Amino acid sequence: DNVLHPPAYPWTFNGFFNAYDAASIRRGHQVYTQICATCHSLNRIAFRNLVDVCYTEDEVKAMAEEVDVTDGPNDAGEMFERPGKLADYLPSPYPNEEAARYSNGGAYPPDLSLIVKARHNGPDYIFALLTGYKEPPAGVPPRETQWYNPYFAGGWIGMPPPLGEDGAVDYFDGTPSTRTQMAKDVTCFLQWAAEPEHDDRKLMGFKWIVGMTIALGLTTYYKRFKWAPIK
Ligand code: HEM
Repeated sequence: DNVLHPPAYPWTFNGFFNAYDAASIRRGHQVYTQICATCHSLNRIAFRNLVDVCYTEDEVKAMAEEVDVTDGPNDAGEMFERPGKLADYLPSPYPNEEAARYSNGGAYPPDLSLIVKARHNGPDYIFALLTGYKEPPAGVPPRETQWYNPYFAGGWIGMPPPLGEDGAVDYFDGTPSTRTQMAKDVTCFLQWAAEPEHDDRKLMGFKWIVGMTIALGLTTYYKRFKWAPIK
């Protein structure tokens, strides 16, 4: 019903021999932190998960220390604030769903940890959604707290166009942050968040196939050799 199917994009992680683009994940983390994290959580990712994926350990430690984390209770039974450390999970913008809905005109910004897996054609859909905001069709009145987006089921989404203007994020590597670039990078980042084991999985699959092919060759040779005298 009433939904546009997203186009298929040539992601670097499509296909058997392919892998993530670490620079894109890092730029996507910048987009996530500076834009999406205002409203969305990413509960399944801890700071330590970013180490050696797209940052060094020192970079992530410095990043974590900028976040105030509530810890406790201490010996006096009180909660207290301390700087974040590697083992902490990324901060959430709201204490609970009620607060999240209250701030978003009744809509609930879902946790993004597994969103790529929770939607059909995950990465294609997220990219199309982020870049797909349009004027409503002629004769359809605009709404107060919903925006027209033909890729979202029903056509009206409670998320304001999040990517703002071209150049909204200062990329670490100087890549021009056009809106399509930001959409691509944050999609790569969310794909990594949902499937951090992706590169290992494909490499391991490749090694197994090579290993099993060699084993097949050897057993075939051995079997023929053994049975050769018995015609
Ligand atoms: C929903 C991504 C920024 C508020 C969503 C959905 C995704 C998403 C994938 C789910 C759509 C679905 O259910 O199929 C992102 C990304 C962002 C971002 C990647 C950063 C680039 C924001 C910001 C806000 C926000 C800054 C708040 C101002 C919401 C809300 C919903 C939502 C309220 C629920 C919409 C509804 O159910 O009608 N977002 N978002 N998002 N987002 Fe965001």
